[in-house]
Amino acid sequence: MKYAFSAMAQGVLPLLIRLDPELAHDLGLRGLGKFAGCWPPLDTPASLAVKSMGLSFRHPLGLAAGFDKNGDCIEGLGALGFSHLELGTVTPRPQPGNPKPRMFRFPADSALINRMGFNNKGVDHLVSRLRQRRVPRYEGILGISIGKNFDTPLERALDDYLICLRKVFEYADYIAVNVSSPNTARLRELQSREGLKAVLGGLLEERSRLEQRIARRVPLLVKIAPDLDDEDLDVLAREVQSLGIDGIIATNTTINHALLQAPPAPPLPGGLSGAPLHPRSVAVIRQLRRVLPAGFPIIGVGGIVSPERAKATLAAGATLIQIYTGFAYRGATLVREIVKGLP
Ligand code: FNR
Repeated sequence: MKYAFSAMAQGVLPLLIRLDPELAHDLGLRGLGKFAGCWPPLDTPASLAVKSMGLSFRHPLGLAAGFDKNGDCIEGLGALGFSHLELGTVTPRPQPGNPKPRMFRFPADSALINRMGFNNKGVDHLVSRLRQRRVPRYEGILGISIGKNFDTPLERALDDYLICLRKVFEYADYIAVNVSSPNTARLRELQSREGLKAVLGGLLEERSRLEQRIARRVPLLVKIAPDLDDEDLDVLAREVQSLGIDGIIATNTTINHALLQAPPAPPLPGGLSGAPLHPRSVAVIRQLRRVLPAGFPIIGVGGIVSPERAKATLAAGATLIQIYTGFAYRGATLVREIVKGLP
């Protein structure tokens, strides 16, 4: 009886999918928060467990950044069976993001275009949510994605990342540095060698200090765009490794809307996610693997909308995987299908 809700919730999904995408997202999050614990637990064999970056993941599949930007629904999302949740991206100060509408569905392609622009309630709100977890029911891994405010000049970006790093540090199992959203002006310039050195170098120095204080290692990862060419990727992979970053999350959304069967005309500025992104994100992971040693952690994300695609991303060299758009379309069913379909 308790678990009848999960069937009911899946029945609600087709209705949500008829609403404005952002409204559906917000209602879905609220519903999940209220009914955490109504889902049957997802039992996974020990053979699916992944040990990486000193962390233990029950299986490879997690929720990508951007879905629960504010940490408002940790228990609800955790109950669906994800091995890890990447919260955020948060910025030092709250910000409203771009004007609405800013999320668009392309159902024939199982895709979305978004230009949210890091709408979030600010890092202090996220920290207050994490502090409230006195008796956490979700025992999976919590990653926290950090970013910069839209009006902080690029030259001061490190200051913003440092503010977020210090505030979330003790609550995070890992921290993801987002330098790849296409919806914050000039952000992706930080993926150049100089940009990475300045931002990641500064964050790594601060991490050493913070680690001594809490006596725990907190892996620092960088999330990259799928729109870098192979040469850029090689430079980035070498730089990230030599700096001592713990892993790469590949990839964020793409600005290449030609991947859609029928790209919107006039063009819709924003990042494309979902099924059409999969071949590109797999190609990025393969290219990174050519440069990086076998054990170097890569979290593969982009276009995983089925168990087959999950397996293809892992086969390309991903250590762990994440979903966003597939989950937005198919809900918890997809989480369970993917995990059950893993070898
Ligand atoms: C995102 N994504 C994202 N990524 C990130 O690092 N920080 C963020 O705040 C967001 N926000 C966000 C909002 C929306 C509406 C979407 C659709 C996506 C990118 C996301 O985490 C993921 O990298 C891409 O969407 C590719 O994966 P999927 O969606 O194809 O599974």
